[in-house]
Amino acid sequence: MTVLKAATEVRENAYAPYSHFKVGAALRGKSGAVYRGCNVENVAYPEGTCAEAGAIAAMVAAGETEFIEACVIADSPSPVPPCGGCRQKLAEFARADVPVTLATIDGKALQTTVGELLPGRFDASHMGGN
Ligand code: THU
Repeated sequence: MTVLKAATEVRENAYAPYSHFKVGAALRGKSGAVYRGCNVENVAYPEGTCAEAGAIAAMVAAGETEFIEACVIADSPSPVPPCGGCRQKLAEFARADVPVTLATIDGKALQTTVGELLPGRFDASHMGGN
């Protein structure tokens, strides 16, 4: 199963009655297993969660803490860039060179990496001896 296919499938399950903007995300863990997530909105708008966060939660719940490829897909005119918070969340669980495909349901795709999405990222090294 490709991460593109997994993200495309799980996007259908997105709960997005407020934005009407369904997003799917999929990660391939180091083990080869694929984890999926979709956005889950809430009537209290800030309580909604992004597709990427759902996929990360699924991966960690399954016992993995590293992914080796990712895909995010939406029905948009151009590939959807992950929000700032999701860039930090993705960076927690992947090396900077890990490929990320940003896709649209009509077949457009942009290839990037976790490092390109969040240059200059805050990481554990900045905490020095703490
Ligand atoms: N959204 C995601 O799930 N991932 C992204 O990368 C961009 C935005 C969701 C959040 C919200 O449910 C909807 O898209 C509109 O912002």
